[in-house]
Amino acid sequence: MIGTANGVAASITGLGSHVPERVVTNDELSTMMDTSDEWIRERTGIRERRIAAPEEALSDLCLPAAREALEDAGVAASEIDLLIVATVTPDMAFPATAAILADQLRATRAGAYDLSAGCTGFMYAIAQAYGMLAGGLSKKALVVGGDVLSKVMDWSDRRTSVLFGDGAGAVVLERVSGGGFLGFELGADGSGGPELYLPGGGSRTPATAESVAQHMHFVRMNGREVYKFATRVLVSSAEAVLAECGRTIDEVDVYVPHQANVRIIEHARKKLGIPEEKVVVDVDRYGNTSSGSIPLALVDAREDGRLREGKLVLMTGMGAGLTWGSGLIEWTDGGRG
Ligand code: ACO
Repeated sequence: MIGTANGVAASITGLGSHVPERVVTNDELSTMMDTSDEWIRERTGIRERRIAAPEEALSDLCLPAAREALEDAGVAASEIDLLIVATVTPDMAFPATAAILADQLRATRAGAYDLSAGCTGFMYAIAQAYGMLAGGLSKKALVVGGDVLSKVMDWSDRRTSVLFGDGAGAVVLERVSGGGFLGFELGADGSGGPELYLPGGGSRTPATAESVAQHMHFVRMNGREVYKFATRVLVSSAEAVLAECGRTIDEVDVYVPHQANVRIIEHARKKLGIPEEKVVVDVDRYGNTSSGSIPLALVDAREDGRLREGKLVLMTGMGAGLTWGSGLIEWTDGGRG
């Protein structure tokens, strides 16, 4: 799917984020498994990640992030008419975490549902929210991207568990007077599904003593194949959305790629020809937070003063599915046009 915004100016008007308190360093991981700070930093750029407490679930991370985004936008929860939570680690299979969150926020007028597109979930969700705003179905949307992947990691598998962390970010989307979203490109290649998946717990492999014993309820990943896929689509998707919107890479002021791995980001940055200072990187502090990654990086970019009125921001996500998605936005001051 690819397209430009259809003449309706809608933008991100509020931002918020939340990560668990507990910091787990590479050195701490090396006391739990056969790994080292040197290996993890060299191969991934990750120094530490946040890990949720045993009693902490996704909605516990989403709630403070959502409250911060609403306050930032100056929007009351009661005004939100659309609430999407992008995640692969909901509180439970159903009800949707979005419905749980809507209740916690008292967002009683909101249509609320979860969206599953792996680490690309946040990009899919903001594209969908834009479409609902532009089509007149929604006036004020709240999109939360978050995951608690630590709960579905096989902590005996050093090839996957060192890569991920927990966190959530939230954005409010509203119509504005100018600027805002310019276009999106979304894609999926289900043939690559087995490269990154969690087989257990669905209707194909329900929870049984056997599926638990076979570690079917944990993430499985073919790191090398995912690496090849990620480096390819970060470039192709960014180029596609820029071409669709009639913009060039040189016009991009801030590049916010999915925070999976510094090597993947560096590879894409060089191929695209984006100067280092335009790239937002926080994977060193958070690891790969899946659907939380891009909104957490947006919050970081705003904190370091890079998200300013009129700046062209390119965001690209990729992940399980395999899926990918890019969005181009002309940032609106304080979020507003
Ligand atoms: N600590 C120490 N050694 C390790 C670790 C570890 N944590 N993990 C693997 N190794 C070992 C391997 O066993 C292997 O040893 P061997 O040669 O004796 O067999 C050696 O290190 C090299 O392993 P490779 O898998 O070849 O290492 P590679 O350079 O490919 O890096 C990595 C692995 C970091 C996983 C890389 O493939 C990668 O980044 N892939 C993408 C993963 C990713 O980002 N996934 C998520 C993206 S999509 C989404 O966000 C959902």
